[in-house]
Amino acid sequence: MAAPRILILGPPGAGKGTQSSNIAEAYGVEHVTTGDALRGNKEMDISDMDTEYDTPGAYMDAGDLVPDKVVNAIVDEALSQADGFVLDGYPRNLDQAEELEDMTDLDVILSLDVSREELVDRLTGRRVCDDCGANYHVEFSPPEEDGVCDDCGGDLIQRDDDNEESVRNRLDVFDENTQPVIAHYEDDDAFVAIDGEQTPDEVWADIEAAIDARVE
Ligand code: AP5
Repeated sequence: MAAPRILILGPPGAGKGTQSSNIAEAYGVEHVTTGDALRGNKEMDISDMDTEYDTPGAYMDAGDLVPDKVVNAIVDEALSQADGFVLDGYPRNLDQAEELEDMTDLDVILSLDVSREELVDRLTGRRVCDDCGANYHVEFSPPEEDGVCDDCGGDLIQRDDDNEESVRNRLDVFDENTQPVIAHYEDDDAFVAIDGEQTPDEVWADIEAAIDARVE
């Protein structure tokens, strides 16, 4: 089986990061995530790119999109080095979708559906390991010891953009910019909608079945 090229779409908090980790492990592909790449470069000086703010972090903390030229360059570089991938967090608008079409073909396009109020609960309760990036939720998947990562013992922190105001803005930005991307892919043979409100294990079972049905 050739290493699959998988795109995972869905609103903030739909479980893209959670399920991308499963996909990367099960299929031996690279997890290419613009969110993590940008968080690793929050203070990068982009003032020479004629942008509204001088760093990616200023856009992210407000829940707004980082300018396309910054993100397109990150994805192009990452995909050119990957032998199979799960792409998470891109494309987030139709211009980015057009850029992606010039970069690669896709074998599977997954779209996770979750209602808005569930998304707010998931994101405001999320905690992330500062060291290894593992994801927890204070109610839905708490760590064994409060504030400590089960996997590596690192500190669990709340992301700067997981406060309620920023979360609601991220969901508005998604409705305006990224819903049209989902509509754009809906008629593609590789597209499959997944019910993201099930338990993480049930979501994973549906994703695995969808990938196996589309990749030989
Ligand atoms: P990014 O990091 O991509 O954030 P996001 O899209 O808002 O997605 P999240 O990581 O918040 O959610 P997720 O779907 O991965 O959910 P998770 O698995 O963690 O982007 C951050 C920012 O970077 C953007 O706002 C923007 O500024 C910038 N950016 C990124 N890409 C860009 C681009 N292409 N262009 C421009 N700007 C860009 O799950 C969430 C929580 O729910 C967790 O606590 C988890 O434990 C829990 N959970 C997961 N699944 C379930 C389940 N089935 N049931 C119950 N709980 C669950």
